[in-house]
Amino acid sequence: MPNRLLSRFVNGHLHRVGLHLSKKATITRLAILQAEVERLQAEVERLQARDAEFAHCKRVHEAEIERLRQRESQLTRERACLIDAHLHFQGVEVGSLPVLIQEPAPRTDAQLPDPVIAWTLDRFQEKPGWALNLPEDLSTFHTGSSAKAQQFQEVMHQTVQLGWSTTHMCLMQVIARMWSDLPRRYLEIGVCEGLSVLALVTAIRFQKALRRQNILEPFFDELVLADFWGNQFGGSARGSHQHVEELLRSVHVTPDQVTFLDGDSKKTVPAYLRSRKNHVPFDAVFVDGDHSYHGAMTDLENVLPYVGKVLFFDDIYHPAHCLRDRLLEVHRSLVKRLKDDFYVFVNRSWFGFAAFIRKDVFDALP
Ligand SMILES: C[S@@+](CC[C@H](N)C(=O)[O-])C[C@H]1O[C@@H](n2cnc3c(N)ncnc32)[C@H](O)[C@@H]1O
Repeated sequence: MPNRLLSRFVNGHLHRVGLHLSKKATITRLAILQAEVERLQAEVERLQARDAEFAHCKRVHEAEIERLRQRESQLTRERACLIDAHLHFQGVEVGSLPVLIQEPAPRTDAQLPDPVIAWTLDRFQEKPGWALNLPEDLSTFHTGSSAKAQQFQEVMHQTVQLGWSTTHMCLMQVIARMWSDLPRRYLEIGVCEGLSVLALVTAIRFQKALRRQNILEPFFDELVLADFWGNQFGGSARGSHQHVEELLRSVHVTPDQVTFLDGDSKKTVPAYLRSRKNHVPFDAVFVDGDHSYHGAMTDLENVLPYVGKVLFFDDIYHPAHCLRDRLLEVHRSLVKRLKDDFYVFVNRSWFGFAAFIRKDVFDALP
């Protein structure tokens, strides 16, 4: 082969070899780069996953910190608000309960928020006296600007059991306060075993005895007792005409002085009131029968026009009736409605008792 041809062949071959060589190197470099890209992509994904995990942990920790902060402030509040409520039985202190209260209550017209009651009630289910150290609640009593009434509210507030239940002790306090104007006409809805009417009669007799009056002569012009007399709806089955008659006989009230109304007071009481020849108001009325919202409201509506001097209402802080049956709400609405004409006195120990006394009657008492 001539030199020229040989050199062209050699050059051409070398050129092809060169090309071939640089293509191979490029492919290899590409593969390496691709692997590097894949490795970096995997690394990015791993970091992203870690990032998401960190963000999640951060959120969890922040939520936990917030929860702990809230718990801390709640515990601080609780520490500040737990007060020992002293439980008394028959005049003797039998123990104390920590009862949650809100911040010390300012003397404002603000209503006590029911969540406080619900919370306290929830913690001390079925414990009588749980309401004793709730903050003062101006929507539950009313003494106007009368110093005498304020003083009597203090007496009622301080009244504890002493053989008789707090309810009956409070009822006796009212009778003692009314010694110069003792009830002669009395209507009671919800008599059960007759202990409240016995307390009333005992208190009247005691006041008369203190003033050297004859305690044997009949002092009722009208005594009306309404109940189912059975063992349902809070009855004890020991409540019966015979049982109550015997009880009253022991305090010199003879059966001929008593009118028994048998059955649902929502029916029997209005029927009786319609049947009366006169429409003379009762000196005292005690509503303590049907403890449902509707039942208590109906009984109250029925008797309100006949309340001459005093209306008693019970169990406004009873664990089973206070919120579930809204008896406290019934009581508050009554206070609101009657406060122009009545002073309202409450006792929160045991299950809560209220006495509404007409202002003119109370003001006239010595
Ligand atoms: C809490 S006890 C009364 C306690 C009594 N006042 C005392 O302090 O000793 C309630 C009574 O109301 C009666 N009662 C409940 N619902 C009634 C209704 N709708 N009509 C008449 N009496 C009812 C029950 O039979 C029960 O005897």
